[in-house]
Amino acid sequence: MTVGLYLGGNAVEVETFLQEVRFVYLYKYSGFSKTDRGTSTMIHLPLGKGLVFLFLSLTCWANSSGAPEGHTGAPGEQTCTVCHTGTVNSGRGRLRIEFPSAGYTPGQTSRMRVILEDPAASRWGFELTARLESAPQTRAGTLASVDGNTMVNTAGAMQWITHTAAGTRRGTTGSVTFEFNWTAPATDAGAVVFYAAGNAANGNGTVTGDNIYTTSLRVAAESGGGARPTFTASSVVDAFTARPGMAPGAWVTIQGSELAGSETHWTPVGGRTLDTRLGGVTVKVNDAPAVLSFVSPTRITMLVPGNTPEGEVPVVIEREGAAPSTVNVRVSAALPAIHCVPDPSGNRFFASVTSAGAGTSLALLNPRGWILGNPAVDNRALRGVRAGEEIDIYAIGLGKTEGETTTDRLFANPVPLATLPTVRFGELTATPSLAAMIAPGLYLVRVKAPESLAAGEVALTLEVHGMTSAPNVFLLVQ
Ligand code: HEC
Repeated sequence: MTVGLYLGGNAVEVETFLQEVRFVYLYKYSGFSKTDRGTSTMIHLPLGKGLVFLFLSLTCWANSSGAPEGHTGAPGEQTCTVCHTGTVNSGRGRLRIEFPSAGYTPGQTSRMRVILEDPAASRWGFELTARLESAPQTRAGTLASVDGNTMVNTAGAMQWITHTAAGTRRGTTGSVTFEFNWTAPATDAGAVVFYAAGNAANGNGTVTGDNIYTTSLRVAAESGGGARPTFTASSVVDAFTARPGMAPGAWVTIQGSELAGSETHWTPVGGRTLDTRLGGVTVKVNDAPAVLSFVSPTRITMLVPGNTPEGEVPVVIEREGAAPSTVNVRVSAALPAIHCVPDPSGNRFFASVTSAGAGTSLALLNPRGWILGNPAVDNRALRGVRAGEEIDIYAIGLGKTEGETTTDRLFANPVPLATLPTVRFGELTATPSLAAMIAPGLYLVRVKAPESLAAGEVALTLEVHGMTSAPNVFLLVQ
């Protein structure tokens, strides 16, 4: 069917349109506050010297191997030189900590290495602890042995990993490596600092003639990754007027925190499937990846796949380097929202429409297009709508089209809606002559403004599948 529209799968116009979606959204909802990320799993343990020595007296002499807890040189800790003679880092060797990647991934286990070198040494020992950079006396993640060369000591919530008797490798010269595992905190806890002290010893079985070294390594959460995305069912809202819900083929915005590492916009290209992965983020709706037009730490704009069933469906945000988050969201047959611009109060919206068939389908974004609306809030608008005038209303969330509802690629020909919406101008009801999806998730409703429409502001709503668009969207009638 032809509706006198030119679209031609024009990616640029669709993109411009959706940038507009974002603009409207940003304008109205920029006050959305980021939820605080929980750090409640981190326990702050005051570790005074008295405490250190208490544990020392309990455990140091009980084990024939391993350094006593709390001698890594971490803030608030001493080093091995409390007992071993000499000055830290004065020998000819060095101590290194190796982390296998540039950053840590929350919840993931990494194989770490401590390498101690010294040309004068023939017996070896070390101790390492992991702390939050923001709270150096708070443990970060979990240390674990992977072989007989190391063992973990604990005191309260704190952990240290140190050498065993076998791990001292008496007789080995040049250098030794200690390997162990570290499991990162479950959520992005900020940068972690590993503190270590090493003893490159002479093997005389005493505290003399050894070289003590210290070092530390800072590891931040993997860039662009890290914390688990946080959102709720009610923070999934229509992209125009921010009313909660989802519908097949609806553009929705997910509000939340840690949703993405940075801002990324889509690049729709005609003839290719639209992006379902943007800035390392994928959103699956009932297991199907949704087209994404924009991702940022606090907002994702996505197109609900056209074949999404009604009812509760899982929405899963998968962000590279972070654990996925799943929230069940209710899908209704429609979630209608009219293209509109907020007034300065931000509480009322004014519809921006076009005179019917005013050129391109997306003429409302074309400065030369025939945009009708409230010029006081939308400077692209020429004037208000006249009674009896035929107009094209642009909307999202009007539900399924005839046949298959296409949401994964651009298309050239408008596809009629399976169910015609009802248009209301205040109390007056009008039946559209045409309602079609003209671009993925974007609908056009052609209707004649009632002849009896009085000049002024009138509430404009669309009703389809028993769902009505926001009551605070107005049309300026002149
Ligand atoms: C509270 C005192 C004390 C502290 C603190 C201490 N050690 Fe020792 N360490 C000893 C004593 C005593 C010996 C000798 C007896 C033995 O080997 O058990 C020793 C021996 C060693 C030996 C064997 C030395 C050799 O030449 O044979 C190594 C290796 C070692 N310690 C590593 C460490 C490391 C690493 C640290 C710091 C992270 C450390 N120790 C901290 C008391 C301490």
